[in-house]
Amino acid sequence: MSVEAPTTLMEVKDLEVAFRHHRSTLRALDGVSLEWKPGEILGLVGESGCGKSTLARTMLGLEEPAAGEVLLEGQPTTGKSALAGLRRRVQMIFQDPYQTLNPRQRVGQIVAEPLKVQGVGKELHQERIERAMNEVGLEPGRFLDRYPHQLSGGQRQRVAIAAALVLEPDGLICDEPVSMLDASVRSQILTVLLDLQKKRGLALIFITHDLSLAWTLCDRIAVMYLGRIVETGSATAVIESPQHPYTEALVTAAPVPVAGGRVRRELLKGELPDPSNLPSGCPFHPRCPKRFEPCDRVVPELVPAGKPGQLAACLLHGEKGEHVSGD
Ligand SMILES: Nc1ncnc2c1ncn2[C@@H]1O[C@H](COP(=O)(O)OP(=O)(O)O)[C@@H](O)[C@H]1O
Ligand SMILES: [Mg+2]
Repeated sequence: MSVEAPTTLMEVKDLEVAFRHHRSTLRALDGVSLEWKPGEILGLVGESGCGKSTLARTMLGLEEPAAGEVLLEGQPTTGKSALAGLRRRVQMIFQDPYQTLNPRQRVGQIVAEPLKVQGVGKELHQERIERAMNEVGLEPGRFLDRYPHQLSGGQRQRVAIAAALVLEPDGLICDEPVSMLDASVRSQILTVLLDLQKKRGLALIFITHDLSLAWTLCDRIAVMYLGRIVETGSATAVIESPQHPYTEALVTAAPVPVAGGRVRRELLKGELPDPSNLPSGCPFHPRCPKRFEPCDRVVPELVPAGKPGQLAACLLHGEKGEHVSGD
């Protein structure tokens, strides 16, 4: 048997995640399939509440899916040892590092923690910690002994990235990593992440509601709406020629004009539906300016649309989907 290089770092198939909400069930992920390739920068975009963080957490085994699979290099990630392997290979950073950094630990201890958890020999710690800190632009001599409250927001996010890097992972999932930072600090942190991608070949998942950021940063984008991926493709294809009316609305409503500089804001009408009581048919149809006859009774599947590799879950691209009868 020949040993081929894996074509995906991670892959999820038909993921379903549900939360109990009072007496109803909220389907936070409703049949999500996605591939993340080695070294790739994959953007996850969509309005707040569409399931981006839940997808990230489920990929790392922090949420239990009701159905579907999470694969690391084609292998299942269920079971204790597979999960430990996954956590060594793929790390995550969050919007607010202040909430994830232990306030009673010094920077040196925070960055050392993953090494301890994974049982990496003590003789390797100092070198690994210093390397990770240098890679994120924190001089070890100045920062090792500081506490989180003695750091700026940008420095705290650098510490979080260093702690994520210390195990030398292949992938880093960044959940809105710069949305709480000032503009100038924001671009510094993005530069750190992009350098890591270039120098280490680190694959990144970049979760953001900022489409123009996703456009400049990402190789590929997946657009989520109410627990589903409604469009995916190269960043250029998705942003410059969106094939799903929801993506089109997001692009048009982006506060910073992307792709062509149009600024129109009237497209995305109506509230996000109650996720525990989804509309029938296409979940976007009540807000969709292009809805037509079958949209309230057929749940569209992702089908090829637009540029090569681009997919959209919209009946405008052919009536392929699951017919529903008042579910
Ligand atoms: N632990 C939880 N318990 C109950 N509901 C949750 C939980 N986490 C997320 N949700 C719900 O799941 C949906 C998706 O949430 P989330 O993944 O955080 O969205 P996003 O990151 O895109 O803003 C939302 O409706 C949210 O309220
Ligand atoms: Mg989130």
